[in-house]
Amino acid sequence: MCGIIGYVGPRQSQSILLAGLARLEYRGYDSAGVAVIDADGGLGMRKRAGKLAVLRDDLVEHPLSDGTTGIGHTRWATHGGPTDSNAHPHLADDDKLAVIHNGIIENFSELKAELVSDGYTFLSQTDTEVAAVLIGREYRRTGDLVAAFRAVVSRLEGAYTLLAMHQDHPGLVVGARRNSPLVIGLGDGENFLGSDVAAFVEHTRHALAIGQDEIVAITPSGVEVTDFAGAPVEVEPFEVTWDASAAEKGGWSSFMAKEVSEEPDAVSNTLRGRLHDGAVVIPELEGLDDLFRDVSRVIVIACGTAAYAGQVGKYALEQWTRVPVDVELAHEFRYRDPVLGPDTLVVSISQSGETMDTLMAVKYARERGAKTLSICNTQGATIPRESDAVVYTHAGPEVAVASTKAFVAQITALYLFGLHVARLRGSLSPVEIADHVVELEAVPGKIAQILEREQPRIEQFAHWMADTRSVLFLGRHVGFPIAMEGALKLKELAYIHAEGFAAGELKHGPIALIEAGQPVFVIVPSPRGSGELHRKVISSIEEISARGARVIAIAEEGDAAVLPQADEVLRIPLAGPLFEPLLAVVPLHIFAMGLATAKGLDVDQPRNLAKSVTVE
Ligand code: F6R
Repeated sequence: MCGIIGYVGPRQSQSILLAGLARLEYRGYDSAGVAVIDADGGLGMRKRAGKLAVLRDDLVEHPLSDGTTGIGHTRWATHGGPTDSNAHPHLADDDKLAVIHNGIIENFSELKAELVSDGYTFLSQTDTEVAAVLIGREYRRTGDLVAAFRAVVSRLEGAYTLLAMHQDHPGLVVGARRNSPLVIGLGDGENFLGSDVAAFVEHTRHALAIGQDEIVAITPSGVEVTDFAGAPVEVEPFEVTWDASAAEKGGWSSFMAKEVSEEPDAVSNTLRGRLHDGAVVIPELEGLDDLFRDVSRVIVIACGTAAYAGQVGKYALEQWTRVPVDVELAHEFRYRDPVLGPDTLVVSISQSGETMDTLMAVKYARERGAKTLSICNTQGATIPRESDAVVYTHAGPEVAVASTKAFVAQITALYLFGLHVARLRGSLSPVEIADHVVELEAVPGKIAQILEREQPRIEQFAHWMADTRSVLFLGRHVGFPIAMEGALKLKELAYIHAEGFAAGELKHGPIALIEAGQPVFVIVPSPRGSGELHRKVISSIEEISARGARVIAIAEEGDAAVLPQADEVLRIPLAGPLFEPLLAVVPLHIFAMGLATAKGLDVDQPRNLAKSVTVE
């Protein structure tokens, strides 16, 4: 959950490192640091607890000698609190070696005890410093940084991306990865390493994806990748499909505001190139029909918002393909000894493609013989590389910690996949598929309408509710996961109690929470779908409003049945029942962002969180 950047080339590196860290800050923002080998061959380092701005200010007040080889780090604390001394880089070999790290070295206590008994002392509580000291010790023996890495990585357990440079080797940065991300950026006479391409996209869009358990050495003129045993390996080149401006705020008050405004594009870009004359054609899945045609069971695994996208997808996938679908939190899945086999398809959903819980669950499923498909938003990420097939969402880079545009893109990709499988299995006719395609194509325009018509009102309304201590969300059918998504967004952004319930569950307990003035959002299904479902939700509204709840209904245009009981009605355009969640979630994203903003909170970087959870 940390961000890492390395640079070698002809340019002074500090500004390159700081700009890269600014784009990686979403990965962790409780401390930051840089190390540079300067023109005189000395290694300088500066690190500070707090956001990147604290480090920047420090560097302005007390400049660090610049140089053309450097590494930088932005941290989300795991071992050791967010203090100056626990920030990275960590130094070793008499301060000539600098090391940064993302991940957790699980056996660091044993390694540290060994080093302490050998007389080494430590300045921090981190697992990283242990790796730095080990690399420093090996380097002293051989004078070869790559060999030192090779000797040390075999002793480290857990997940790590490690980057190091040594003042005796200007123009060289060495990295290693196991279960944690690292990509190479190929420049002209300069090269980069980064946790993801955002680190260097401003300078180059040519990238190489490094595999698991590989070591990379970059110099200004070349890149060498080997496995942990030292054998050369081929790396996969890819082109970054977005440019640096996509990862900039571009005049918006926050990345989240920008990303919510991009929800229509996230859907249309995910559809682009995959719809042809009313049929769904997913180029990435060509030649893989056998993988999907005969599955007898689908298990969707994901965490947080991505898992809610999976729950929405379950309704469509089951209805369209007639294959049973279970949705599970990835971290629960692999610890319950699930029944898996070659007829099971495990579909993982991850915006980052790096979520450790999801990655481990995918590996577990493959080891037990299941087929695996990844739905992912990040090219070159680990989860798609570990899966049999991938369908990319094309939401563009999502920087705000809370997932918004990726959520609608994930549902879109699941729907495309569902229609693809329905065609293969013959469970839907071409005409039925074409009808659903028409619905999908209309979604971006409908989301845009909600943003245009309702956003100012929802924001105003969130402002009035700034003192609210608790909000409940009710939904039924596809509205249920949307209720949970609305609650999750409010918890993580506005730090208030929020819960999402299945409306039918109300009378089995949660209705006891209803008292006068309790705000409750209710996602109302279309009366044009299942009239019965609609009537049931209206009854739930009546039950809670009779007990004093303040009801905010999200209902389709023209639905008059909500008017007598609802205190507020947020309108969404008409859509088929399975397509409503793609619309109903938008007001909830706006509301959570609006309430957090009204409370003066940072919506892009909520407390205690990081965008990419690369620890279990
Ligand atoms: C909530 C949120 C998280 C992520 C979850 C999975 O707003 O963003 O719940 O959805 O951590 O992340 P990915 O999709 O990167 O695997």
